[in-house]
Amino acid sequence: MNLRIFETLEDLSQAAARAIRMSNAKSIGLTGGSTPKRLYEILSASLPHDVTWVLVDERYVPKSDPQSNTAMIERTLFANGVPDRWLSFDTSLNDPAATARKFEAEWHELAIGDLDLVLLGCGDDGHTASLFPGTGAIDIEDGIATEVYVPRLEQWRVTITKPVIRAAKQRIVMVSGSSKAKVIADIRNGAQFPITQVTEGVETWWFLDKDASL
Ligand code: 6PG
Repeated sequence: MNLRIFETLEDLSQAAARAIRMSNAKSIGLTGGSTPKRLYEILSASLPHDVTWVLVDERYVPKSDPQSNTAMIERTLFANGVPDRWLSFDTSLNDPAATARKFEAEWHELAIGDLDLVLLGCGDDGHTASLFPGTGAIDIEDGIATEVYVPRLEQWRVTITKPVIRAAKQRIVMVSGSSKAKVIADIRNGAQFPITQVTEGVETWWFLDKDASL
């Protein structure tokens, strides 16, 4: 496991920003959630050029909803302007399956191919993107994106699939906070979760803060 442990989330975010800039990645998958917000703020000061940005997953809510990953990214990473090549999920369709199909059609129109880099988070249940344990979405081997109902959240989600994440040249998993310490310990002891299924055997860097790695 390629592992870097940082004192704080700020240190983790600064290091992740440096790694992204040094990667010279031209197509980047962006995780949602709270962990990447600081990283996105840092990157927004000098947004890497000529990049195709792709949202990894979305809660099936309007952009006006506080839970919206699209809105969070446009407020942080794209605070100085939304780039032309930005592919997110259109939840205004009010039809998760149609949203996933539209995303996939736009992916092909943009001729994205395999991503250079995917940024991922990790839930305390070992989910990543919106590939949650027990939902079956992790088992989808064809297609770029899928809709998925998540019973524990009583929420529809749309997400890129496991093969898309695994086909990327590189992955960076960012994990922060003591609430993740148990799942990280379980992962380091070999337990299987969606996050391990999308990263095992492919180049992946784990960026943890100290609290997540106790
Ligand atoms: C989402 C994310 C999800 C996230 C994990 C960790 O839409 O919530 O894509 O996979 O990365 O749930 O979330 P935190 O960073 O908020 O802990």
